[in-house]
Amino acid sequence: MVNPSVQRLGSSIDVPSVQSLAASIANPAHVPPRYVRPEAKADPVASDGESELPVIDFSRLLHHRFSREESTKLHHACADWGFFQLINHGVPDDAMEKMKADIVEFFKLPLEEKKAFAQLPNSLEGYGQAFVVSDDQKLDWADMLYLITRPHQSRNIDLWPAQPLTFRDSLSCYSMELKSVAATLLELIAKNLGIAPEEFSTIFQDQPQGVRINYYPPCPRADEVLGLSPHTDGSGLTLLLQVNDVEGLHIKKGGSWFPVKPLPGALIANIGDIIEILSNGVYKSVEHRTIINAKEERLSIAAFHGPREDSMIGPLAEIVKGCESKYVSISYGEFIKAYFSVKLDGRRLMDSLKL
Ligand code: OGA
Ligand code: NI
Repeated sequence: MVNPSVQRLGSSIDVPSVQSLAASIANPAHVPPRYVRPEAKADPVASDGESELPVIDFSRLLHHRFSREESTKLHHACADWGFFQLINHGVPDDAMEKMKADIVEFFKLPLEEKKAFAQLPNSLEGYGQAFVVSDDQKLDWADMLYLITRPHQSRNIDLWPAQPLTFRDSLSCYSMELKSVAATLLELIAKNLGIAPEEFSTIFQDQPQGVRINYYPPCPRADEVLGLSPHTDGSGLTLLLQVNDVEGLHIKKGGSWFPVKPLPGALIANIGDIIEILSNGVYKSVEHRTIINAKEERLSIAAFHGPREDSMIGPLAEIVKGCESKYVSISYGEFIKAYFSVKLDGRRLMDSLKL
């Protein structure tokens, strides 16, 4: 039974598995034109050493001697970058390693076995693709497995891979660990923004969480395709773990794409659209994209932490205080429906919510 809240997210037009397509391409000329994106190599990419993604030490955020200093760093990271690397986050290595190993195993299964967990019609949960809304739209070079992990009653366990055998346990454990990290970060973010903690905890009550596992196959025309089109995340806070050592995440910074080089064991955190709106634009939901490697597959796991579906999302009164509200107020249910009904297209949806 698919939980009704998932069906309300909308659906995506069925397109072939990119993993299977990639495996069948003998010659670069055979990459179908629907995947070829001139902008992939046209847009400028920042070179090494131009600037550095902020690194936030979670253990210092919690330490009575260092928390103030580290919280200030966190504030600047959220305001200036919208992205940061999170180290010493306390998620046990074991929880991360088991999750990674099971994801790699899942994607090695034959297509038919993966399809046992495919998205059902009119739903976005499960194995497949999202954001395909028209038959002539360009396509991303990626497959994904999207699962609602929290609150518990929203889980559609039938769509959670039963192979490898440990997958469900690994994901439950990973989800719980990440939820705790996100909850602490959200508390500190509320504090940094000068919001009463209850206000944030009501909006993010029960810590709704969805996990998207991204699988990016190699492509012989790697610099002409995109893994994920430029987008912002429709979440409050996203925590991303790169599963293998292949890099590919780019974030928009001062008009060019800035390649992220994850530190070993770090989580890449980013502010999503919801916190940008709640903070009246003080914190930024920054555009990002992923690129493809010519020889190696890339995998990542994004944990999205969002508000309760029935919450109203608009700039918070304590932040606006006499100045202008920059965004409309919208229920999260409506927001997320709009998010999934259009293709990934930079900041287009966010711009449409601006006053
Ligand atoms: C996402 C995302 C980046 C990555 O899933 O929203 O931006 O590195 N992923 O896979
Ligand atoms: Ni993203």
